[in-house]
Amino acid sequence: MIKLHDKYFKPFISAEEIDTAIALMVEEISNALGDEIPVFIGILNGSFMFVSDFVKKYPKPCEVTFIKLASYEGVKSSEDIQRLIGLTQDLTGRTVIILEDIIDSGKTLAEVHRIFQNEKVKSLQIATLFYKPEAYKKDFKLHYIGIEIPDKFIVGYGLDYDNLGRDLPEIYQIKETQHMTNLVLFGPPGAGKGTQADFLKDKYNLVHISTGDVFRYNIKNKTALGMLAKSFIDKGALVPDQVTIDMLNAEVEKNAAANGFIFDGFPRTNAQAKALDQLMDSKDSQINAMIALEVDDEVLVKRLLQRGETSGRADDADESIIRNRIKVYYNETAILKDYYTDQNKYFGVDGVGSIEAITERLNSVIDTL
Ligand code: IMP
Ligand code: MG
Repeated sequence: MIKLHDKYFKPFISAEEIDTAIALMVEEISNALGDEIPVFIGILNGSFMFVSDFVKKYPKPCEVTFIKLASYEGVKSSEDIQRLIGLTQDLTGRTVIILEDIIDSGKTLAEVHRIFQNEKVKSLQIATLFYKPEAYKKDFKLHYIGIEIPDKFIVGYGLDYDNLGRDLPEIYQIKETQHMTNLVLFGPPGAGKGTQADFLKDKYNLVHISTGDVFRYNIKNKTALGMLAKSFIDKGALVPDQVTIDMLNAEVEKNAAANGFIFDGFPRTNAQAKALDQLMDSKDSQINAMIALEVDDEVLVKRLLQRGETSGRADDADESIIRNRIKVYYNETAILKDYYTDQNKYFGVDGVGSIEAITERLNSVIDTL
């Protein structure tokens, strides 16, 4: 994912796919033109990369030139008039192929046809690398089309968003869901995860999804997914990842307007982490960080024994049980730590100190995402 000005874009069409599409266009056009020497006219600025790659592949002699779209203020100062400028060559009797980076509404194309009205060319043909059929509102024939794309804004390979992005060798598509902050929160038992999740939820307007709570809610309310999960639990079997993911999906969809999510208790395995990535991807979003509260074992043991004195929780009373729970936690999270470290998304945060101090540390990590 990349950010240009205020918007986020995701990879959409690779450099290889663009290359293949151009090779096909070159083949089609050169076959159709035979031995005629065409004049290729690129429309600046967007088409500079396409024209360059196109003519490098073109197997026969050809001429190349550019025209540029310039904006003028109309008579009524509110109207913005676009005019093509730079057509100085005599094109009488020539076969002209317009090379466009993208055809969207077709407004630029109308201007192309307008400036060629009085040129006595042999033929005027239109070739566009990208074409948005849903956006196209004109009737001009498009002779050659590289790749049809949906009516969504793209950048890269010559195309810009407010002047940025032209230099990228591949195409990125705008993300429908703008930036969300999605966290996977980890911490050993006694690290203060619940306390901190409550603060983060309020400060960043996130929805806290604890997988355990989601399970209990679905089972209690006898939802179809809850009953399915229960059938596994009752047999003493693990609930399959897909069932859990389907439940999380339902939670995410229920909270579509959220600024993001805090996932708590999930993922626990590599396969689950991948499934969660896929789920977020299907929502045009992503996991931004795994944040792990780091607390020394001895401090945890002390904290939990103290909690056990008042909470009455049996698993908080016995030191060897506590130590084992901590060990299980490290075994489980080690795999995920690697998974997220590989993507530069792992953040360890010192979980020792006052609640406010730890919240501050978490905030400073999240504010960089
Ligand atoms: P049209 O005149 O509406 O067909 O659009 C053509 C021009 O609009 C292109 O030459 C681009 O400058 C711009 N444009 C249209 N769609 C996009 C896009 O998805 N990304 C970047 N520029 C675009
Ligand atoms: Mg253009």
